[in-house]
Amino acid sequence: MLTREDNELICRTGPGTLMGELWRRFWVPALMAWELPEPDCAPVRVRLLSEDMIAYRDSSGRVGLLAANCPHRGASLFFGRNEEDGLRCVYHGWKFDLQGNCVDMPNEPAESNFKHKIKHTSYPCMERAGIIWTYMGPKHLEPEMPQLPWMALNDDSRYTLKFLVECNFLQAMEGDIDNSHVAFAHGKIDPDTSKPFLDRMNFAGVRIPGQPATPYYISDKTPRGIIKDTEYGLMMGWRRTLDEDTYLWHINHWFMPHSTVMGTLKGGTFLSNMRVPIDDEHSWQFRIKWNTFRPLSEAELHEYKHGGTMFPELIPGTFRCVENRDNDYLVDREKQRTSLVTGIKSQTQQDRAVNEPPPTGPIYDRSKEHLGTSDAVIIQMRRTFLRAARALANGQEPYAAHHGSIYDVRPIDLDLKMNVPFEEGARQFLYGHRAR
Ligand code: FES
Ligand SMILES: [Fe+2]
Repeated sequence: MLTREDNELICRTGPGTLMGELWRRFWVPALMAWELPEPDCAPVRVRLLSEDMIAYRDSSGRVGLLAANCPHRGASLFFGRNEEDGLRCVYHGWKFDLQGNCVDMPNEPAESNFKHKIKHTSYPCMERAGIIWTYMGPKHLEPEMPQLPWMALNDDSRYTLKFLVECNFLQAMEGDIDNSHVAFAHGKIDPDTSKPFLDRMNFAGVRIPGQPATPYYISDKTPRGIIKDTEYGLMMGWRRTLDEDTYLWHINHWFMPHSTVMGTLKGGTFLSNMRVPIDDEHSWQFRIKWNTFRPLSEAELHEYKHGGTMFPELIPGTFRCVENRDNDYLVDREKQRTSLVTGIKSQTQQDRAVNEPPPTGPIYDRSKEHLGTSDAVIIQMRRTFLRAARALANGQEPYAAHHGSIYDVRPIDLDLKMNVPFEEGARQFLYGHRAR
């Protein structure tokens, strides 16, 4: 559990909060690059870390974020004209470049130098892997872009969907590192017993030599979590006993402050979730499937785009999911009796059903919870966040923000002899080309 004070501290990310300052030391995913498809296209609204902004792509194709309200008399720049390397407010015509400089002020005398005294709030942006990232912290502390393990892949080896999550980022993120919920919340019903497959391994694509593909069964129903503090966040090894001298390891990583990557067997397609606070009661989820070895197959892409299981279906023209809290995620009680533990189709919405609706959401009161041994990794992540936020308040900048290469570490599932430590056994795969 957390005290109410620590719960407030860790969940709130608006300007001036301790956690808000920590988030403002990193590049964070802001929007999909396709939302600004071409130079001088229509600007879009962006809300991040409780700040309202307008993103626009200028005539040269560069992207930037400006505070949403014009510094003259507050009109929304969403309605601005995007013209000749600047966004022009339609109220009185003040025009701003990507750095927030006022480059034209048509309602002031030509001889006035008033425009040179105006500096609008602006944040730099970078495009990487089909996503526009922004940095909202002090200009002189601009961090390195994290080299997440899926970012350097070709576009055809990666599929990304962004969608709205209607709760605080932290309780959604806690689910990403919580291996003990996977077999249950995302599990199926055994048709022979009408009970959940509690002994079912739920790792997509996992296969044991000589045994059938998923779903398969092993006798070890209680994975043991080994957590390792790292420079980038946490490395998590989930261990199950396969036979008398072999463990199956499921190795995931949590990257401060936004991401989780989840293992699969070599050659399989990996999963990553990125979360970023919109405000304290809403967050974006960027969900990414990626394969280090090959382009995604037609079958995979078809499932991701149309299957509605691995990725949710969106209401057309929005980032809101068809299954949402207003319709109880379209829970199907008959399916809950016969095929799916939750009765909810999409895996992401299965998670949201346990995170969003009150009394859990939109901000869970962690002073009321009861944590067991399977929650050790949740405790560790909270400690890491709180420690980093307090250290920053004491003047210690987060190391990871200025060392982008430390994020280039991969997840993996693999079987290892019991006498081999998981990080040693997985080293060659985890660190790829920068083997260490
Ligand atoms: S409010 Fe924008 S130019 Fe006046
Ligand atoms: Fe989940």
